[in-house]
Formats: sequence, C-alpha cells, structure tokens
Amino acid sequence: MENQNINKIYDQAMDEISSSSTSEKLQELKIKFLAKKSVLMSLLSTLGTLPPEERKAMGQRLNEVKAEISKAIEEKENELRKAEMEKKLKSETIDISLPSKKVELGGQNPFYVVKDEITDIFLNMGFEVADGPEVETDLFNFELLNIPQDHPARDMQDTFYISDSLLLRTHTSPVQAHTMKEANGKPIRIICPGKTYRRDDDDATHSHQFAQIEGLVIDKNINIGHLKATLELFVKKMFGEKREIRLRPSYFPFTEPSVEVDITCASCGGKGCSMCKGTGYIEILGGGMVHPNVLKMNGYDPDVYSGFAFGIGIERVAILRYGIDDIRKFYQNDVRFLNQYRKKA
Ligand code: PHE
Repeated sequence: MENQNINKIYDQAMDEISSSSTSEKLQELKIKFLAKKSVLMSLLSTLGTLPPEERKAMGQRLNEVKAEISKAIEEKENELRKAEMEKKLKSETIDISLPSKKVELGGQNPFYVVKDEITDIFLNMGFEVADGPEVETDLFNFELLNIPQDHPARDMQDTFYISDSLLLRTHTSPVQAHTMKEANGKPIRIICPGKTYRRDDDDATHSHQFAQIEGLVIDKNINIGHLKATLELFVKKMFGEKREIRLRPSYFPFTEPSVEVDITCASCGGKGCSMCKGTGYIEILGGGMVHPNVLKMNGYDPDVYSGFAFGIGIERVAILRYGIDDIRKFYQNDVRFLNQYRKKA
C-alpha cells in the first residue's frame, strides 16, 4: 500500500518536472515534493511506526525516490537555464547590417586648396617639398639669413618668443638654411609651405599667423632670369595665361639683388582701378638672388654656386584667386564662408 503510494508520488513528480517550462515552476515543485511538509517527507517521518523488517526496505525506497526527484529537478533546472540563456543571447544580438547615418563630406578650406595648387605647380617644375620647424632658433630665423643682432630688419619681424633664442618663425626662409646645411654643397631645388608668425595687427589684411611658400634653387650658373621665368610660369598657371608679372627692386637682407613681384590686376587688366589703387598691379611675393653671405654661412662657395629664393604669401594668393575680403575668414571655420568655396574647391 505504502509502496504503491510512493510509486504514484514518483510518477507524478517526474511528470510535473518534465512538463514544467520555467524555473519558477520548478521551485514550486521542489517545495511540493521535497519540503518537510511534502507527502514524501511525512512518509519518511512515519518510518519509526513501521515494524523493523519493513522499516529498512521502505526507508531505502523513500530515500531513492527523494534522490531521484532531486536529481530530476536539478537536471531540468540546468536545461531551463541553458534555454533561457540562449533565448537572451538571441534577443540581444545586434544587427550590424543596419545602414549607418549618412555623413556629409565637407569641402576643403580654400586656403588648403590654394596651398595644394601652388605646391603642385612647383612639383611639376621639378621642385621637391622640404619641411622645417615652426619653433625656430634665433640662429636659423635671423643669423644664418644675414640678419645679425641689432639689424634694423629685425624690427619688421618681431614675433612670439619662447626664450631669448627660441621663437615662432617669422618666415619660411629659415628652411633655406636648414636645407643648405643638409644638402652639404649639392644643388638644391625645393619649396616649403608652412605657417609663420609675426607681431601684427589683426585686421582684414593682417594676421599674427599666416602662411608662406618658400622657394630655393641653388646650382652653378643660376641667374635672375631663372627666377623671373620660374615666377612667370607660376603666375600664369595660378592666375591664367593673360597675367603679366613685374619685378620691382626691393630689399631683403638674405637676397641681393632683391625684388618684389607684382602681377597685373585681375579687375582692370592693368589699366588701374580701386582694387590695385590705380597702379594696375598687385604685389604677391618677395624674392631675389641668394646673398653671398648666406651661401657662405650655410656651406656653399659663392664663387662657384649661385641661387634664387622667393617667399609667396599663401593667403594673399587665395584672396586674389577667390576675391576674399578678409584674411581672418580663413581661420574662423565659419561654414557659411567655407560652403561658398566648396564648388570651386
Ligand atoms: N622671407 C621674406 C618675407 O617673409 C620673403 C622672401 C623669401 C624674400 C625669400 C626673399 C627671398 O618677407
């Protein structure tokens, strides 16, 4: 009778365990079949009332059933846990095939467009691009360019000093000295685009920071005709075949003779207008033949070698090319300004 009862409980437990589908349900079954007040456990506690010969067998059977139910619950628990984890992992997968938000490509600042154009023109003429530090020594920014201490030309190129002998370069010309020292007496044909700094007013045509492209050619038998032809070709490529150039005598301590280069005004074609202040020309760069002192100081014999150098203001060219009225617009990153030059760029 008791045995039948136990078998019934066993069958019922196994049935309910295998058909339960959540861990909560399993917890309930644990209480139902294995807790102190469950039918099975109450049978265990009545073992003492049985005659000794039945007691042993019944005890064994009860314990077996208890262990099997426990085991079945545990196995089912594991099975459910695994299934729940798989469901969770599936529901949390990310669909990486979702198309991303469209990123709009910006336009280049006209400054960089012009810088690249100028660079390309000179690369096509066989120049190489050189580089140099923006934080310069007094030695390279001035001394090696024939501008000794107390030279009045230093007044026009006051700058930001980091220490007595360390400063933000006032022009890209120190790259001339660096290149000459590195080239060790060999011929040179380089340009160097880069940032320059000067103490200056910040207004529509002046900025404490601007950029130049330095040019330097050194070889045997270089004369001012080479300088003129090089710059003429540059101007025609940059501004169009109709543009003429004019060389005016000027002064730089590191070139002799020195020239200021003007181009015919785009607005009036050379007749004279408000753009060119009635002169028909607009100044775009400075240059000249490398001064013998500069050649000597940087390792070249001026009796054997000669060369020319020039410095082009990049913003100046961009302003003339695109008719921009304020140099500060290059640096402010105002999208209303930048978008205007996007198509042209
Ligand atoms: N470095 C000069 C300036 O900044 C320009 C220049 C470069 C002149 C090379 C002559 C030769 O004004």
